[in-house]
Amino acid sequence: MTDFMRTLALFQIPDGVIYLDGNSLGPLPRAVADRVGRVISEEWGNELIRGWNSAGWMTQPRRTGDRIGRLIGAPEGTVVIGDTLSIKVYQALASALELNPARRVILSDSGNFPSDLYMADGLLKSIASDHALRIVAPEQVEAAIDETVAVVMLTEVDYRTGRLHDMRALTHTAHAAGALTIWDLAHSAGAIPVDLSGAGADFAVGCTYKYLNGGPGAPAFIYVAPKHVDDVRPALSGWMGHQAPFAFDLDYRAGPGIERLRVGTPPVIAMAALDAALDVWEGVSMQDVRAASIALSDLFIREVEARCPELALASPRDGRERGSQVSFRHENGYAIMQALIARGVIGDFRAPDMIRFGFTPLYIGETEVRAAVDAIADVMANSRWDAPEYRERALVT
Ligand SMILES: Cc1ncc(COP(=O)(O)O)c(C=O)c1O
Repeated sequence: MTDFMRTLALFQIPDGVIYLDGNSLGPLPRAVADRVGRVISEEWGNELIRGWNSAGWMTQPRRTGDRIGRLIGAPEGTVVIGDTLSIKVYQALASALELNPARRVILSDSGNFPSDLYMADGLLKSIASDHALRIVAPEQVEAAIDETVAVVMLTEVDYRTGRLHDMRALTHTAHAAGALTIWDLAHSAGAIPVDLSGAGADFAVGCTYKYLNGGPGAPAFIYVAPKHVDDVRPALSGWMGHQAPFAFDLDYRAGPGIERLRVGTPPVIAMAALDAALDVWEGVSMQDVRAASIALSDLFIREVEARCPELALASPRDGRERGSQVSFRHENGYAIMQALIARGVIGDFRAPDMIRFGFTPLYIGETEVRAAVDAIADVMANSRWDAPEYRERALVT
């Protein structure tokens, strides 16, 4: 059994804060500051440029990638870290389209994160072909997979509602129709058990600043199934993905395996923070995380519905159909969330009307859930959200 008291002690959570936003930005694992400090003062400070070799900076994207691979059912050597998730979506999509040249449709859904759709749109404009991006409702994806579809590109857990797609079933349907799949795991990695190999996924991408606690702007990851990787032509053919970056050839030759999905110089300091953050997963079972997350979310839904009838559940009621977050709708959702944050209960708001709460058993337990519901009930029953300072929209919601 995973010891969640042990994992709780590994995080710095400010006094008086109930942090229900680890689905957006994970809190700080205590070990990160020390590791980053050492990388800066000892590695960068003393090693200077020698650090690329002596401190292993050059191979870090693969080593840290393998650590994430263990959490998402990806074999060694199939995951690499770098860039942002939007960039990784672009890379995966460009490669997948080239692997399926007779097809012209990218199929996605309206629950996908807009940046994924924007990247697809931008890619199609750049290649100026007759490809099309087809967006259907999440529940219509399966029926929309036909012989015109080149790639099914989905986010497994809907960022707004938490609705979970059946990765295995949809990948199977896609393959039966001759299509490839790209799975965005932004709200899955570290939140729910993921088995990329078992599901037969072709590509997967994800960020590391949410449930993996890598810090604001932490670099992203990309997975390519071993059966495809040697056929992938990198669209972003930067020198770090070259077979021999330091040969400085004038021609691009893709590097071996997943290395070719690297682009430019890795963010060594950010990667050190991420690598230290991943230490908290040692000894943690994703099955235990999942069971605890569903229990906490179910308790939260039950209590909020009993005490705050004016909040409408926006997430699936069945825990098996959700990721690790719960959302409620209210027309004054933004102000409600600001009033909660002022009371130390931190979640977030997603337009047009959703308040969103993430349940992360590594550092959230039943006590926190019950205290958060007390605060929500107080804010709702006494209209504490109805104040001018809570209505003013900040840049980030
Ligand atoms: C599902 C999903 N995809 C893509 C992105 C964009 O990621 P990035 O800003 O790292 O490019 C996000 C950001 O939250 C996301 O939630």
